[in-house]
Amino acid sequence: MMKVIAFSGSPRKDGNTDLLLREAVKGVESTGASVKIFGLNLMDIKPCQNCGGCDKTGECIIKDDMEEIYREIRTADRIILASPIFFFSLSAQTKAMIDRCQSFWCEKYLLRRPIIEGEYGRKGLLLLVGGMKKEIGIQCAEATAKAFFRTISVPEHRTLSYLGVDAKGAILEHPSALKEAFEAGEKLAL
Ligand SMILES: Cc1cc2nc3c(=O)[nH]c(=O)nc-3n(C[C@H](O)[C@H](O)[C@H](O)COP(=O)(O)O)c2cc1C
Repeated sequence: MMKVIAFSGSPRKDGNTDLLLREAVKGVESTGASVKIFGLNLMDIKPCQNCGGCDKTGECIIKDDMEEIYREIRTADRIILASPIFFFSLSAQTKAMIDRCQSFWCEKYLLRRPIIEGEYGRKGLLLLVGGMKKEIGIQCAEATAKAFFRTISVPEHRTLSYLGVDAKGAILEHPSALKEAFEAGEKLAL
């Protein structure tokens, strides 16, 4: 069975990011697969300290909720990253998790041990929602997310982004976003 995990990076519970992610999850589930969702805002994830602790081992020395995320990323076939755009980039909750994946960077590039993919290969899906209508937010967030996906040995990912979606629940009024997220989730798991 394909293993799918998802990261929700918004502090706003049931906000636009969560609503979009929920549709993508339904799309995945329509194929028979299940999704384990990590609500990053409620997790204990300390920002990377650049202590060098992972340089020689590929393992982070900080003991917090990242321990479970490391295990899950390692064995996932599909990874969904969902974040609102904050200050033209990913949310701090999302970025803190990503920075802690520096240990995977060490493992991959310093120790030359890529994360081995399973029989389904490894694919990603990026979901972004921004309140403004400025593309720069999507571009910056996408660049960071791409670095994240490649670092954790996810060679390809698709991006769905929606701008001008600001008030809580505004995504529900978007003509195509929810349908597109469902379809992207479905396609991701096939
Ligand atoms: C701290 C903060 C910074 C924001 N910065 C941006 C921004 O740079 N660009 C943008 O398009 N929207 C920005 N927004 C608006 C959010 O992206 C928007 O409200 C989005 O719908 C929030 O998604 P959520 O409901 O999942 O939290 C910002 C919101 C907050 C709270």
